[in-house]
Amino acid sequence: MGEKPSEEKKGGVTRREVIVAVGGLAVGAAIGATLLSRREVVTQTTTATVTTTATVTTPVTVTQPPTTATPPPPQGYPRMKLANVRDLAPKRTLSKEYAGVRVWLVKLGERAVGGVGPDGDIVAFVPVCTHMGGALVYDQQTNCVVCLVHYTQFDLARAGKAVTGHATQSLPQVMLEYDEETGDIYAVGINQLVYGKTRNL
Ligand code: FES
Repeated sequence: MGEKPSEEKKGGVTRREVIVAVGGLAVGAAIGATLLSRREVVTQTTTATVTTTATVTTPVTVTQPPTTATPPPPQGYPRMKLANVRDLAPKRTLSKEYAGVRVWLVKLGERAVGGVGPDGDIVAFVPVCTHMGGALVYDQQTNCVVCLVHYTQFDLARAGKAVTGHATQSLPQVMLEYDEETGDIYAVGINQLVYGKTRNL
């Protein structure tokens, strides 16, 4: 009396064992479904990220500026013949006057910004320092001109850029044109204000 009858076995398996087995299958199915749905979420997230990246990259490519644009010549200057290519010896300055100022014409022996002629190496500048108007000398070794007052150096192959010293402005460059048939070199403008002037023209 009071003793529970032992569970009846069917085919060697008790009812409790069957319930446990079914419960295990149900839990496994639930976990599987969860993992599957998580995998779907991950997949969707990855796709969304790629799409977003592509959207951000496109305008950057489109907005890149052109790098080969040539600036137009300054307005109001006369077009004046300065010399013929045969008048120039390599790495020697040839002094001329243009638009009321003295200018130096030089064949640098290396391709230069704004250079003309068969080798793109003929340039012209106003030889007055942009710091305080000091006189300049040309250095053949470096293709720079050096100020005799505070020793600023201006690189003639790179648009007269001040590379060392007190000056912060480049040297005024004379814009040139070259006639391939005759070899004549023309000045057509000066690209910035000359030191000591309120206007170039
Ligand atoms: S005047 Fe030329 S660097 Fe000062």
